[in-house]
Amino acid sequence: MPNVERGAIRAGAGIAAPARWRLLGATTLVATTLVAALVLGASIALGSGGAVAPSPADSEDVSYGVEIYLGSYCGACHSLTSAGTTGAFGPTHDDARSRAEERLSDPNYRGRATTIAEYLRESIVEPAIYVVPGYAATPHAMPAYTNFSERELAALIDLLMQP
Ligand code: HEC
Repeated sequence: MPNVERGAIRAGAGIAAPARWRLLGATTLVATTLVAALVLGASIALGSGGAVAPSPADSEDVSYGVEIYLGSYCGACHSLTSAGTTGAFGPTHDDARSRAEERLSDPNYRGRATTIAEYLRESIVEPAIYVVPGYAATPHAMPAYTNFSERELAALIDLLMQP
C-alpha cells in the first residue's frame, strides 16, 4: 500500500503544477468519498446490534492514520518515515511533537493552540493562522483540510504524535 502511494506521487511529480492540483483534488475527493462510504457501512453494521463501536486500539488507530495520511496526499509535501513518505515541500513530520513544541514557544506564534495535539489539529484545518518560518513564500502552501471527520483528524494527530 505505501509503495503504491509513493509510486502515484512520483508519477504525479512530472505533471505541470495546475494539472497536478486538479489530479490531486479529484483523487482526494474519490478517496474521501470511499472512506466516508466505508465508515457509514461499518456504523450501520455495528448499529444493528445496538452495540457501541469499541474505541480502536492505538495500533489500529495509527494504521488508520497512515491510511488517511496517504489517501490525502500529505506525503506529497511531507516526509514521515512511519508512513513511508518523502515529500519535501513542507517541514518533515518526523519528530512532529518536538517541532510542535517549538512552534508553540515561537514568540510570533499567533494561533489558539496551547497543546501539541491542538497545534497539529490547527495546522491541518486552519494552517494560515501560523505559517512555519521559511514557508511563507512557498508555491506549495499547506491546504486547509476542512472536510475531515473527527475520527480522521484524531487518527492523523495520533499518527503525528507517535514518538
Ligand atoms: C501542497 C503541499 C502540502 C500538502 C499536500 C500538505 N501539507 Fe502540511 N504543510 C505544507 C507546508 C508548506 C507547511 C509549512 C507552512 C505552514 O505552516 O503552513 C505545512 C505544515 C504542516 C504542519 C505544521 C508542521 C510544523 O512543523 O509545524 C502540519 C501538522 C501539517 N502540515 C500536516 C499536514 C497533513 C496532516 C497533511 C495531509 C492531510 C498535509 N499537511 C498536507 C504543505 C503541505
